[in-house]
Amino acid sequence: MKLSNSEYLQVCLPGDKSIAHRALILASCIKGEHQIDNFPKNEDVLSTLEIFKNYGFKYKFINSSIMIDSTNMSFKDSIIDCNDSGTTARLLIGYLAGLNINVQIHSASSLSQRPMRRIVRPLKNFGVNIESNGFRLPIKLNKGNNLKPFNYALDIPSAQVKSALILYAMSINGKSILRGKIYTRDHLEILLSNLGYPIYINEDKIEIDGGIKINKNINIKLPGDFSSASFIICVALLKQGSFVRINSVGINKYRIGFLEAAVNMGAKINILNKKTLYGEIVADIIIDYSDNLKGITINKLNTVKMIDEIPILSVLASYAEGDTVIHGIKELKVKESNRIKSIIENIQSMGGYAKLRDDSLIIKGKKRLYNTRIKSFNDHRIFMSFYIANRLISKNIDYDINDTSYKKSFPNFISIIEDIFE
Ligand code: S3P
Repeated sequence: MKLSNSEYLQVCLPGDKSIAHRALILASCIKGEHQIDNFPKNEDVLSTLEIFKNYGFKYKFINSSIMIDSTNMSFKDSIIDCNDSGTTARLLIGYLAGLNINVQIHSASSLSQRPMRRIVRPLKNFGVNIESNGFRLPIKLNKGNNLKPFNYALDIPSAQVKSALILYAMSINGKSILRGKIYTRDHLEILLSNLGYPIYINEDKIEIDGGIKINKNINIKLPGDFSSASFIICVALLKQGSFVRINSVGINKYRIGFLEAAVNMGAKINILNKKTLYGEIVADIIIDYSDNLKGITINKLNTVKMIDEIPILSVLASYAEGDTVIHGIKELKVKESNRIKSIIENIQSMGGYAKLRDDSLIIKGKKRLYNTRIKSFNDHRIFMSFYIANRLISKNIDYDINDTSYKKSFPNFISIIEDIFE
């Protein structure tokens, strides 16, 4: 394989969105000065930041770093707005519930359609006085006097719920235990372990000692966001002649289902310079144009490892030979859009084949695809996936130019993709 620096297009990506939310939350509970390098300024992360600003967070941006001073943070009774960020909402519901203050949690109307039962129900069981609008936002947390540690089995493989419950447990004296479907992105567990917090991760459970003060400040560099990288990987695999290197991307084992699936489909991908950065595994990903991709079957457990990448995997599958079957996709119904419907509609309108059968998505590849207007359903990952699906056919992509949904997670998406096409 050709590996000289001059031959490939090099890409560096903004830091991981999931880690950024968690690092900000931890910075808010450790009073002092913090620095996060390669900080992603996307809309979701800025929503979390804005909320903390109202609780006394001071910050400034220097190049791609954020410098934070949380010395004067004070969590008082408040009304917060999470905009459209589901991660902000779910994580902060758990975190603020543990702080035992009166808070009203609001959001954009799109987020208020999304399910919150998964977080409301366990918190209620632990003694939190929480009111919701039929298990949706807005949600009210009322001060109570009987908050308890827990021993709880997660019944949905959701990293947002897992993190929310860990954040709650950190404020409650005593040991809490999480069991069940805990095998999802573990960025919070990694950050906490690195800060010396007493969190113990075993085969089948996570134990958290509550009420412990963290004495170390946050000083980290975020790995490039793998979810953003998946779009670049797809373009590089499908655009004739491409040879792209994405530097310092996070390859956390719970996040790289898309990478593993692409390799199983026959993608020419190399991983170089693997190292550990603040507990997270980071590497350079080198992608060569691959004209011989084959459809594959993905089981339920692997689907969890690419939960945000199913839209872009569907695009890759449409360009591969044969059928791709993705099992265990019902969670996709409750993302920023009903992603099963959004994927099927876009692929079908391009002349491809995508169908839902029970809990599985079936895509028949190598159909003749043609450009149609992108229907993003205001969902960033649908917009980006079908921007690519269309861009591979022609330069003239038809979409609503007021559609900036991609800024939710990847504001420089279009310029990076267009660089690869140049
Ligand atoms: C996220 C977890 C996932 C993912 C979301 C970000 C996180 O959601 O889809 O984009 O940062 O914890 P679920 O926990 O609902 O699976």
